[in-house]
Amino acid sequence: VAWQAMRPKIGLVNPDIQKNDEKVVNTMDVEDIGDKIAFCRCWRSKKFPLCDGSHNAHNKKTGDNVGPMCLKRKNA
Ligand code: FES
Repeated sequence: VAWQAMRPKIGLVNPDIQKNDEKVVNTMDVEDIGDKIAFCRCWRSKKFPLCDGSHNAHNKKTGDNVGPMCLKRKNA
C-alpha cells in the first residue's frame, strides 16, 4: 500500500497489528464487556484489542513500563 511505504519504520507504536489498514479502530458494545476486561495499550497482544500479557515481555525487553487499561463493574 502506497501510504505504508511513505511512513517511517522507526518509532512506530504499532509494529504488527492490522498494518494493511490506514487506521486501527476497535468497537465493542458495553453490554458485551461483562464484569471486567483489560484492553491492550502496548500493541503487542495476540488478542488485540484485549490484553494477553504480552506487555510483560515487551517491558522486560525494552525497559518500557506499559500495561493494560482495565475496566470493571463497581460491584464485580
Ligand atoms: Fe498489551 Fe497487555 S498485552 S497491554
